[in-house]
Amino acid sequence: MEQLYKKRWIGYLVFGLSVFLLFCLCFESYIKPPVLVSWLGRWHPLILHFPIVLLVVAVFTSFTQKKVAALLLITATLTALITAISGFLLGLDESQKGDLLFWHQWLGAGVALFAALWYWLETLNYGQHIGTKTLQIILIFLVAITGHYGGSITHGENFLDMPKDKSYAKIPDNPLIYEHIVDRILEQNCVSCHNPNKQKGELVVTSLKDLIKGGENGSSIHAGNPDKSVLLNRLYLPKEDKEHMPPEGKKQLSTTEIEIIKEWISLGASDTLRLNDLKTNQPLAKLVTKMMSPNQLEKWSVLPIVQDSTIQRLESDYVTIRRVFGNTNALSINMYTPPTYNPDLILRLNAIRNNIIELDLSGLPIEAKEIEFVASCTNLESLEIDKTAITDHEIEALNTLTKLKSLKVSETEIGDKSTAVLSNFKNLKNLFIYETNISQNGIDQLQGNNPELRIISGISEELRAAFIQTDSIKKEQ
Ligand code: HEC
Repeated sequence: MEQLYKKRWIGYLVFGLSVFLLFCLCFESYIKPPVLVSWLGRWHPLILHFPIVLLVVAVFTSFTQKKVAALLLITATLTALITAISGFLLGLDESQKGDLLFWHQWLGAGVALFAALWYWLETLNYGQHIGTKTLQIILIFLVAITGHYGGSITHGENFLDMPKDKSYAKIPDNPLIYEHIVDRILEQNCVSCHNPNKQKGELVVTSLKDLIKGGENGSSIHAGNPDKSVLLNRLYLPKEDKEHMPPEGKKQLSTTEIEIIKEWISLGASDTLRLNDLKTNQPLAKLVTKMMSPNQLEKWSVLPIVQDSTIQRLESDYVTIRRVFGNTNALSINMYTPPTYNPDLILRLNAIRNNIIELDLSGLPIEAKEIEFVASCTNLESLEIDKTAITDHEIEALNTLTKLKSLKVSETEIGDKSTAVLSNFKNLKNLFIYETNISQNGIDQLQGNNPELRIISGISEELRAAFIQTDSIKKEQ
């Protein structure tokens, strides 16, 4: 077996691959990979396991049994070289190389080249030399660090942290708006690219001071003035916009999260403001209480897991899917009517029906099939089917939605026949039924059955008050 060390061609092969690897890394910017080459790179995640195991075993045997089997060391070296080269080819696909990838590549190349060096020393019978032993120990460290960086690239930088799903961690009863709410949103969505080690756009979001200091384009938040806050503007940009944050393909913020940041900035972006400092009817207080109530999050924690990739696959120009908050699996779905409507637009969401908490089908030409689908989304808490062709018959089919808290059926043809079904929604808090055929009698009946229910049957009290106010202002002028 040990004659293998004497085989010249193996030596040439190891030498050749080492030189090729170094050449690739040094002249990277001049290399334009043909398609086949990029395809070879895709093998990297598969082959990388071989050199890791083989090298560890080789070093172990070298320390315990003195002599390392030639076949073992040769396969370890060759697979390490091939892994490094395929990794390099894979990296060519990345338009922008982060620090992690940079280090991962050079450390990976280091592993391969050190292995080649070890192989060479072994052929010269220096296997037990103190220098070779040191090299083996360095090699093990290099393998570990390279692997860690590699894992961080694919699984996110904190993948070795103890799994703690912050979105479910209980929030103090009277949270600090910045520390417990806003910072948490930024931490979950922005810190991976905007931290002291990786400052994309020169922006760091880990402290309020850094947010105010801002990035390349100056301060990212403008206390008291959401419109002037670069950070918020970036969140509001359309997803396709190059400047939209988080960049396309990353998990997106929910509307509530964006609103929370906006309201917090409007109120002065303070780091001492607490929930109890706000009046209960202030929008920020409402948003925070609604979203952070722990029983809500706990309730959602039992929902089936939805991967970001699934969400991206199901989204389209006419369907937006957002997580209701943080990393919860509770989803909020908005649909818009495409030029040519096909029920599949809705029916294809079947796989995630148990995750749908909020659904907006307002104005869509839905029919029986779609209603049947909606009726199967039994975790629904908020449903908007206003401006659709639904009638009392369809409303009846929805009696499975026992968790419903808010229902918009305004501007439809439903009438008093629906009041029986509507009365059965025990959790219903808000019901929008203006411009329907429900009579005052029907409304009284609904209210009688559920005194807590807020029925919006015409212009609401608040709106009316607002109208009267603007009217009188106009008159004064
Ligand atoms: C995948 C990486 C990534 C994530 C995640 C990310 N960003 Fe960025 N961000 C960038 C890059 C790259 C730039 C610089 C290029 C540019 O200006 O668009 C940038 C720039 C910015 C800027 C402009 C800074 C300046 O002064 O020019 C703001 C503001 C910003 N990001 C906010 C956010 C917020 C808020 C989040 C989380 C909701 C976020 N980003 C998440 C990569 C990211």
